Amino acid sequence: EDIGLGRFEHYMLKEIFEQPQTIENAMRGRLDDEEATAHFGGLNLTPQQLRRINRIVLTGCGTSWHAGLVGEYLIEEFARLPVEVEYASELRYRNPPLAEGTMVFAITQSGETADTLAAMRECKRKGLPSLAICNVVGSTIAREADGGVYLHAGPEVGVASTKAFTSQVTVLTLLGLFLGRMRNLSYQAGQRIISHLRSMPEVVQRTLECNDAVREVAEKYFQARNALYLGRLYNFPVALEGALKLKEISYLHAEGYPAAEMKHGPIALVDRDTPSIFVVPRGHIHPKVISNMEEIKARKGPIIAIACEGDDKVAEIADDVICVPDTEEFLQPLVTAVPLQLLAYHIAVLRGCNVDRPRNLAKSVTVE
Ligand code: G6P
Repeated sequence: EDIGLGRFEHYMLKEIFEQPQTIENAMRGRLDDEEATAHFGGLNLTPQQLRRINRIVLTGCGTSWHAGLVGEYLIEEFARLPVEVEYASELRYRNPPLAEGTMVFAITQSGETADTLAAMRECKRKGLPSLAICNVVGSTIAREADGGVYLHAGPEVGVASTKAFTSQVTVLTLLGLFLGRMRNLSYQAGQRIISHLRSMPEVVQRTLECNDAVREVAEKYFQARNALYLGRLYNFPVALEGALKLKEISYLHAEGYPAAEMKHGPIALVDRDTPSIFVVPRGHIHPKVISNMEEIKARKGPIIAIACEGDDKVAEIADDVICVPDTEEFLQPLVTAVPLQLLAYHIAVLRGCNVDRPRNLAKSVTVE
């Protein structure tokens, strides 16, 4: 590879630390303070087409699919448009109603994932405008899409996706803002979203300060065989993504779940050797997540919490707390994903795994 590692031992760690910059790049030139909205150069849709949108389908694979789940919550909240998130591998062979007014976004870092490409082609065949949220400029999906938004995250070398995820979430936030401002979102609400978005590079920079604390937690738990990742609302997809990172590079079994669903199955796995990683920043669901933590605690399961600085309630219950800055609920995934990326990284290093080239996985899956 001709891309230097700089002061980092692995590409994955380098890419995790690039996120303040890549989030900034995903927003650059796209925020409009005057109109309190976002703009995209390449959507290639007429104002009439944009106004006729009555449903959004987000499709992708792996980490990109997780970003789509965050996008569903964001777009539904900001734009009041129904959103569905489909695994591309399912969408391509299903026959869902895709009526006029549905807009499809293929979410993909590489722009080469076979299933995502096939799902997009299937939707295009049925006459739907199909756009791409993509990192690699000139990739097959970017070329075949009717239009789209680039992430501008720079090359991602580590097989386990990190910076592409936060860039995808950033772009989906902009998209929610844009679609919202064409519908029911007020000028003030738009301005509020913009000002919070602008603070994110700095907030994520501060979040990275948790790295040493995460390494200590990794040292304590790297010999576990199973782990549960639990979060609610915007942090449910983050839990899925945290579990995926751990599986991909450390080969540990991990399950991500909406925290309250844990009592419908995964709680049976809880014992002294199975840590539960709770993503529990402040927000209106916080007390509910605390009670989910208590259920695990009562069954003697160790708890690692990703929580906001100064959260005494969490500190009382959790065995280990990794502190992150407080931020608006809809932007929390950009913050809470970071310690989970780092946790997977440090556990994999401690287990002697090949972090950047994990076994059996490919950076881009170009076969079905
Ligand atoms: C592979 C990679 C994942 C990635 C997924 C989708 O499985 O290992 O990191 O999330 O493909 O890739 P895409 O390039 O379409 O986002």
